[in-house]
Amino acid sequence: MMNSRIPGFYRMSLAERRALVAAGDQIGRLPVEVADRMSENVVGCHGLPLSVGLNFRVNGIDRLLPMAIEEPSVVAAASRAALMVRGGGGFTGEADPAIMTAQVQLDAVPDPAGASARLAGCQREILAVGDRSIPSMVARGGGCRDLETRVLDDMVVVHIHVDVGNAMGANLCDTVAEATAPMIAACVGGRLGLRILTNLPLRRLVRVSARVADGVACADGVVRATRFAEADPMRAVTHNKGIMNGIDAVALALGQDWRAIEAGAHAFAAMGGVYRPLSSWRIEGGALVGRLELPLAVGTVGGAIGVHPGARAALALCGVESAGELAVVMAAAGLASNLAALDALAGDGIQRGHMRLHQRRLEVSHAAGV
Ligand code: MEV
Repeated sequence: MMNSRIPGFYRMSLAERRALVAAGDQIGRLPVEVADRMSENVVGCHGLPLSVGLNFRVNGIDRLLPMAIEEPSVVAAASRAALMVRGGGGFTGEADPAIMTAQVQLDAVPDPAGASARLAGCQREILAVGDRSIPSMVARGGGCRDLETRVLDDMVVVHIHVDVGNAMGANLCDTVAEATAPMIAACVGGRLGLRILTNLPLRRLVRVSARVADGVACADGVVRATRFAEADPMRAVTHNKGIMNGIDAVALALGQDWRAIEAGAHAFAAMGGVYRPLSSWRIEGGALVGRLELPLAVGTVGGAIGVHPGARAALALCGVESAGELAVVMAAAGLASNLAALDALAGDGIQRGHMRLHQRRLEVSHAAGV
């Protein structure tokens, strides 16, 4: 098993670091010819620093975390927090089955309240049509699982819950929505509207927790910071930004749809009608305990990961084998970033560390004459 604890990694030369992580020269690599097939009007490839988050142990397994991020301090801070959590046994977590939800909108439905009963009569047939539209996913054990009806005034929205296996699942859901919509409309009535997945996949949540007995300079301050975020959406959004620093950095390195992840996370944070922090920290049994829950639609197959060689190399470095494992590891990166930020903010603040790295940046921009 790989050891994610590599003391002095930051002091090594770039060449030494690349040599130490297997496939170091492949990670992040995107030949422009491949980019040209991924998007339109391509004129080049966009670069970002690609780093490795250290010290992560997640569900008993050491993980090196590829992180693509331009902001100084995030990787160092997450690695520092992961080391604190490692002392308490590391992160533990679990992901729900990979259920994504497609939405089919019907307007001007006669008797919307009776839609659910009407749909129940056609449910089996609709699910079968959906399955026939995604045969390779069905062959891999996924497929359409369930239907649900929501009435919004005179509009009915039908949800189709699809098990997307190890895929992120957006394309699969959209395919199912478009394939089943005519039959759904015939069954429920009304005028057919949108047919598209929701980026709030409430059946695909991930939960991680961390227990820190030693090493946190300001455990009480971290708890007080959580309370602040719980009481004030203006603080909660910054608290959550700190979580997304870790999650997005891994998402970018691994070719995940970070816009979908961001949209889902913030919608989830506002689910109760007030925007809330996604994580909480409390003192329990003398230790600082953190918990994070959010929807995470990520995949280890399909999407960019299927075509981007640098993202595939990064995924191999991380060593996760399923979308669920990936979601847990990404959530751990989020909770680590959150802990590091709150610990620093509750103590001396973040500016000292930031400014050291900022200085390095200024030297680079001066050298480049910018
Ligand atoms: C900066 O990128 C993230 C923080 O603002 C997060 C936080 O305030 O919790 C430091």
